[in-house]
Amino acid sequence: MKILILGGGNMGLTYAQCFLRSHIVTSENMMVLCRTYEKANHLSANHEGRFFSDPRLCVPEADLLILAVKPQDSPKLFSEIQGLTDTGQVLLSIMAGVRMEVICKALGMKKITRAMPNLPAQIGEGVTAFTSTDEVTRIELVMVQNLLNTTGKTLYVEQEAMLDAATAISGSGPAYVYFFMNAMIEAAKQMGFSPSEAELLVGQTFTGAIDLYNKSDLSCENWIAKVASKGGTTEAALRVFRETALHESITAGTEAALTRARELGK
Ligand SMILES: NC(=O)c1ccc[n+]([C@@H]2O[C@H](COP(=O)([O-])OP(=O)(O)OC[C@H]3O[C@@H](n4cnc5c(N)ncnc54)[C@H](OP(=O)(O)O)[C@@H]3O)[C@@H](O)[C@H]2O)c1
Repeated sequence: MKILILGGGNMGLTYAQCFLRSHIVTSENMMVLCRTYEKANHLSANHEGRFFSDPRLCVPEADLLILAVKPQDSPKLFSEIQGLTDTGQVLLSIMAGVRMEVICKALGMKKITRAMPNLPAQIGEGVTAFTSTDEVTRIELVMVQNLLNTTGKTLYVEQEAMLDAATAISGSGPAYVYFFMNAMIEAAKQMGFSPSEAELLVGQTFTGAIDLYNKSDLSCENWIAKVASKGGTTEAALRVFRETALHESITAGTEAALTRARELGK
């Protein structure tokens, strides 16, 4: 199977590396289309795979096209590859907000899958929600899922609209986690820890808590109850979180992200 990634940026190169590292594709069959000749040259000197700047030399050759340009760059890319694709090829778009119908119309392709990955894909720890048009066969869908699995975990959703919800939860989610971590790092520094000590305490607290959660079948509420003994320090903190409506604030933030994802998809 020949894979062409359109856009050799952060996500495009992350995908290429994950596919190659897991030996799901050979470097001969791993192609990347760049915007300029200079960038293609530069990348081919430092990365495995074949790098192109002329779509005519790579688009017709591919079995699977992966769209990894910024949404605002997609109309120009579509005009550059129009007429080079065929209806037997499968397309996977990871562009936020661009609906499958728009891609179908622009390129005349029918076998479209769309995914919402997140940043930890860079270390194979991402989570990706994905969906597809009816024309994608079961075998093709499994092939796409196997590729996405090299970047972390995957969740198939029937409704394309659920990708907006995934954007609000897991797509933007890493930033929410960093926001919470940052607040704790600042608090630790105010209590007298040096920046590196604060980062160690907070970073390992997140790693440990999340590993523990993932390795058990207990809910977050169960784990909270295990840490927070009656009249203790944790309970004092949790009381303030409740009084200041932190939970509601997080829910409202995710809802704002969902609204924005829907607006961007129009
Ligand atoms: N980053 C994330 O965490 C994340 C999460 C979920 C989804 N996504 C989606 O992933 C996509 C890529 O994001 P990114 O962060 O990887 O962006 P990025 O680093 O800016 O990469 C986009 C790449 O596309 C290239 N490009 C633009 N127009 C092109 C064209 N006509 N032909 C060939 N290449 C072209 C750009 O080339 P130049 O460098 O030469 O301009 C750039 O290398 C976006 O649609 C985004 O919504 C990203």
